Amino acid sequence: MKCRTCRGPAIIDLKAHNANFCAEHFLAFCREQVARAIKKHRMLGPDERVLVAVSGGKDSLAVWDILLELGYQADGFVIGLGIGEYSETSTGYARAFASERGLTLHETSLRDDHGFDVPTAAEVTRRVPCSACGLSKRHLFDKAAIDGGYDAVATGHNLDDEAAVLFGNTLRWNTEYLGRQRPVLPARDGFPRKIKPLVRLGEREMAAYCVIRGIDYIVEECPMAAGNKHLRYKEALNAIEAESPGSKHAFYHEFLSKAADRFADDAAGAIADGTSELGTCTRCGSPSSNEVCAFCLLVERTADAVPVTLGERRGARR
Ligand code: AMP
Ligand code: FES
Ligand code: ZN
Ligand code: ZN
Repeated sequence: MKCRTCRGPAIIDLKAHNANFCAEHFLAFCREQVARAIKKHRMLGPDERVLVAVSGGKDSLAVWDILLELGYQADGFVIGLGIGEYSETSTGYARAFASERGLTLHETSLRDDHGFDVPTAAEVTRRVPCSACGLSKRHLFDKAAIDGGYDAVATGHNLDDEAAVLFGNTLRWNTEYLGRQRPVLPARDGFPRKIKPLVRLGEREMAAYCVIRGIDYIVEECPMAAGNKHLRYKEALNAIEAESPGSKHAFYHEFLSKAADRFADDAAGAIADGTSELGTCTRCGSPSSNEVCAFCLLVERTADAVPVTLGERRGARR
């Protein structure tokens, strides 16, 4: 097995790209894939400042590292979600990455700064934990980016994540989501631009990238997301990919080039309906179509709840 670039011994084979690489040229390949995604989808200009949402997992630490390597001004942002030891460990990896490299990492904690955590919110709302978790992340990413004057928020969503979401949306023909499933969401109405620079790289590549770069990350998945539908979609796509390398890439990227535009009206209609009278939340000042935004309502609903520790949740729905 020889490296495609230097013909030296290769350490990784990428069947989807019909290529093998040595460590050095694999890192170059990853950077090149991110640069291509940024250019093609016009994610970032050379002098723009980007806030990277870092969870402490491989994808978000790798995207932060690659953006810096490509010369972007990238700071980090981590949210303590209060999911027991899992959250503490993940935040620890984000902090270690930043401090070892002298980087700026902004932090917020749901429990300390907003009075609740994900397990308690799940119990109070009787919804899956990912629901309050996702709502909180979106709200806090947006707010941190706007308050800090960043041009965009980058997340570590990779090709496997995006293909799995596309698979779910296609299975149910969620046309509104299909029209919005793009690697860049432009800034609008007080929301910052959102970008996903890893859409050309998969999970296996990101794990290899971190190992080669010596980046320590949390390997465990979130304990509250076990059994999540997306994990099953990923397994299904992996089975297809094993038989037919390159399928995931074609499924997602051909969707973007050939089909996504066809659903633009469905997405635009949904945005117009939902935000036709977009004002600002009277409590936090974020853009909201209601007097109080969904995040502030969650803060209010959970304010008097007895904190739930992991393993104590009762009868929550999936
Ligand atoms: P997930 O929703 O857990 O699949 O994570 C998707 C992306 O959201 C990650 O790649 C990160 O960029 C970001 N993210 C997830 N959890 C956190 C967190 N606790 N703090 C900051 N960013 C996060
Ligand atoms: Fe959000 Fe697990 S990370 S519920
Ligand atoms: Zn090489
Ligand atoms: Zn609010």
